[in-house]
Amino acid sequence: MSTPADLDLSRMPKHVAIVMDGNGRWAQQRGLKRTDGHAAGEEALFDTVDGALDIGLQWLTVYAFSTENWRRPLDEVRFLMNFNERLLLARRDDLNERGVRVRFIGRRGGRVPGRVRRRIEETEELTAGNRRLTLTFAFNYGGRAEIVDAVRTIAQDAADGRVDPAKIDERTIARQLYRPDMPDPDLLVRTSGEYRISNYLLWELAYSELVFTDVLWPDFRTKDLVEAIAEYQRRDRRFGAI
Ligand code: IPE
Ligand code: IPE
Ligand code: MG
Repeated sequence: MSTPADLDLSRMPKHVAIVMDGNGRWAQQRGLKRTDGHAAGEEALFDTVDGALDIGLQWLTVYAFSTENWRRPLDEVRFLMNFNERLLLARRDDLNERGVRVRFIGRRGGRVPGRVRRRIEETEELTAGNRRLTLTFAFNYGGRAEIVDAVRTIAQDAADGRVDPAKIDERTIARQLYRPDMPDPDLLVRTSGEYRISNYLLWELAYSELVFTDVLWPDFRTKDLVEAIAEYQRRDRRFGAI
C-alpha cells in the first residue's frame, strides 16, 4: 500500500478528476436503498478532499451528476438534487476556511431547480478568492454538451464577424469551455470497476492517464487517492512524442 510519503513530489499531478461511481451497488450489497449509497459517498468525498489538501493537490474535479443521470427514477433524481444542495450548505464554510475554491461545471439551466442554482452561485462567490485547492463539481455536466455549448458561442461569434472560421483552432475551442483556466486533468480515476468515460470531460481528457479501481465510491478514502497517484507516477507520459 502507498502512503503520501511514498509519492514522488517532483511528479505530482496538478489536476485529478474522479468519476465517483458505485454508490448504488454499495447500498445494494448491504440491503439498503440506492440513495443510502449516495449519502455514504459524502464521507468518501470529504476524506478525499482532506487527502488532496494534505498532499498539496491544486485541482480536484468530481463527477456529481451527469446530463444522462436525468434518466434515473424521479425519486433518485430528486434525492440527488436535494443532497447536493444540502452538502453545499453543510460544507461550504469549512471548505472556505481551508482555502478551497469551489466551482461548478455543467449546464446551469434546464431542469436544475432554482434553489440549487442559487446555492451553487453563492458557494462559488463565497470561495472565489481561495487558491489552495480548486474543487470543481461536474453537475448537470456532459462532455458533449460542453463542446456543443462552446460551438454555439463560436458559431455566433463567426456569424457576427468576431471570429474568422479559417482561424478557428484548438485554443478557440478551449477558450469557450466552461472553465477555460482549468488545466487538463493529468489523471482520471474511476471507481467501481467500470471501464468507461461516461461523457466526462471529453475534450480535457485527451492525454490524461486513466486509473480504474474496483473500490466502490462510498469506500474510497485518501489512501485510494494516494494509490491512484502512485500508479500515475509509474506511467510514462509521451504526448505523442518518443
Ligand atoms: C454514482 O453512483 C453516483 C451518481 C451517478 C450520481 P451510481 O448511482 O451510479 O452507483 P451504481 O453505478 O449504480 O452502483
Ligand atoms: C457517471 O456514472 C456519472 C457520475 C458518476 C455522476 P454513471 O453511473 O451515471 O455512468 P454509467 O451509466 O455507468 O455509464
Ligand atoms: Mg454508476
